[in-house]
Amino acid sequence: MNPVAFFTLALLQASVAVAAAGPTDPNVIEATCNEIAATVSRESQVYYLGPLYDKDIYHWSSSSTQQARCTFEPATSQDIGIALDIIGKNGCPFAIKGGGHATNPGFSSTVGVQIAMYKFSEITYYSTTQTVTIGAGLIWDDVYAALEPYDVNVAGARVTGVGVAGFTLGGGYSWVTNQHGLTIDTVQGYELVLPNGTIVDVTQSSNEDLFFALKGGYNNFGIVTRFTLKAFPQGEVWGGTIFYARTVIDQVTAATANFSANCMDPKAQLVTAYVYVAGIPSIIVILFYDGPTPPGGVFDTFLAIPFSLRDIGTRSFLSLVQSCPFNDTAGLRSVFNTIPILGYPVDVLETIISEVAHWNGVLLPSSGTFISYTAEPFLPTIFSHNTTPSAYPGSRERSVSPLNIWFGWTDSGADELMQNGIRTSAATLFKKAIELGQNIEGAPLYNNYAIFDTPLESIYGDNVETLRRIKERVDPNNVMGLSGGFKF
Ligand SMILES: Cc1cc2nc3c(=O)[nH]c(=O)nc-3n(C[C@H](O)[C@H](O)[C@H](O)COP(=O)(O)OP(=O)(O)OC[C@H]3O[C@@H](n4cnc5c(N)ncnc54)[C@H](O)[C@@H]3O)c2cc1C
Ligand SMILES: *[C@@H]1O[C@H](CO)[C@@H](O)[C@H](O)[C@H]1NC(C)=O
Ligand SMILES: *[C@@H]1O[C@H](CO)[C@@H](O)[C@H](O)[C@H]1NC(C)=O
Ligand SMILES: *[C@@H]1O[C@H](CO)[C@@H](O)[C@H](O)[C@H]1NC(C)=O
Repeated sequence: MNPVAFFTLALLQASVAVAAAGPTDPNVIEATCNEIAATVSRESQVYYLGPLYDKDIYHWSSSSTQQARCTFEPATSQDIGIALDIIGKNGCPFAIKGGGHATNPGFSSTVGVQIAMYKFSEITYYSTTQTVTIGAGLIWDDVYAALEPYDVNVAGARVTGVGVAGFTLGGGYSWVTNQHGLTIDTVQGYELVLPNGTIVDVTQSSNEDLFFALKGGYNNFGIVTRFTLKAFPQGEVWGGTIFYARTVIDQVTAATANFSANCMDPKAQLVTAYVYVAGIPSIIVILFYDGPTPPGGVFDTFLAIPFSLRDIGTRSFLSLVQSCPFNDTAGLRSVFNTIPILGYPVDVLETIISEVAHWNGVLLPSSGTFISYTAEPFLPTIFSHNTTPSAYPGSRERSVSPLNIWFGWTDSGADELMQNGIRTSAATLFKKAIELGQNIEGAPLYNNYAIFDTPLESIYGDNVETLRRIKERVDPNNVMGLSGGFKF
């Protein structure tokens, strides 16, 4: 080897060594795991392998799972404070997981210390204040089940398995959003462990800044241990899931467009998903009415279209949420992306239909077996239910609904292809929606659906500067910067 080549190689190796000595140094991570295990109370646990370790690193999307050096299941807020102190002092990468439904890799996973919140599983209903306090380790199914005997409910996820924490720290579009707004609009308070270990109750009157910041700001300001949400009366509901074949696509599209344009009953909601599963096109519609029977007219057209499979009826809220099939794709690698949309006329839906077909063609040969675009029409009043300001959405001037785009695949070698494809598709749809007369330029993207490299301004708009200032004040040493996510 000539001297120049040798020197270059030596330099390269040196820089690799320097990189490895940084925050991902396995010795630092190992020491951090051991120190946490030795310092926290006996109720909290650290796992290095085994079934509880596997549960702690589990994610709905397999591309969001990473092999953490250890997992930490805190049982008390004090122990979270102790762990954050050790993590910050050592500069050790970590992640916080609620329900593990983040599709963005690294948002709730890490090769460092995986914090899993399962032990925070309190559900307390306070009838005098009509509020419910909910632990950050729960999924919504647990909450709906626990509240059912009291005939009350909270504004949570629409399908099974989704975590309370990430959903509520992002925004939250629920089956009652037309009636009550986003889930963040129903939050009355948080218990938060600050990056310096201090435990605070965050409400509008006790801490206005953090109350604003946590409404959309995820893990930037510390770790939330519990949420207090508004409770609403809840009786039996009507609805469920219908699968349609490709042959009736025009009828389902016309019915969806009519619903989007004409249904003003806030108790009625639906989603229409255009999907390809293993190359086969179909349509999945989930209907919801907040009452035992919908008024005539609202859903009649959907019920008259010939279907492949149908599970519709009067039922409990939980049963409706669990009728939806989106659990079966667990284990696939997944990415979400989104555009904001004002409504779903036929021309917009037809543009979506051609995108689904196009990306099925492109991605199926590379193991892209699940391609789904979900129209989620909401009323134009959904952003008007807040009584205090929130980090998300960046602006409430236009009440946009999020379109969900979801690609699922199996081959890890195809990750970039899928991510690039979903970015291109969102950009194409955004442009075409504007051409079709939708005034969505500058409208906020939904953080819980947006791909990981979405600019913060596209989600939080003019709030980004304020959020940066709050973040600097409560986390001057950037401890929370050691975990992934949209970062201020
Ligand atoms: C099948 C499916 C259905 C969905 N349905 C809906 C829907 O109906 N409506 C809707 O609005 N969204 C929906 N989503 C999106 C969903 O809101 C997000 O995926 C959400 O982030 C999931 O929350 P989680 O706790 O499960 O996620 P996690 O992956 O556990 O966490 C997500 C983010 O929150 C942070 N975080 C988690 N816990 C804490 C904590 N205690 N303190 C601080 N930060 C924390 C994590 O670090 C991470 O950045 C759905 C997603 C999927 C996969
Ligand atoms: C269109 O929507 C309105 C409002 O929900 C409903 O009354 C009507 O029956 C619908 N018409 C069709 C053809 O779907
Ligand atoms: C959905 O999947 C999760 C994770 O595997 C599981 O815990 C849950 O029980 C499933 N829910 C239903 C209704 O099948
Ligand atoms: C922790 O941070 C908060 C918010 O910045 C601050 O008010 C508090 O004094 C800090 N506590 C300690 C012990 O440093």
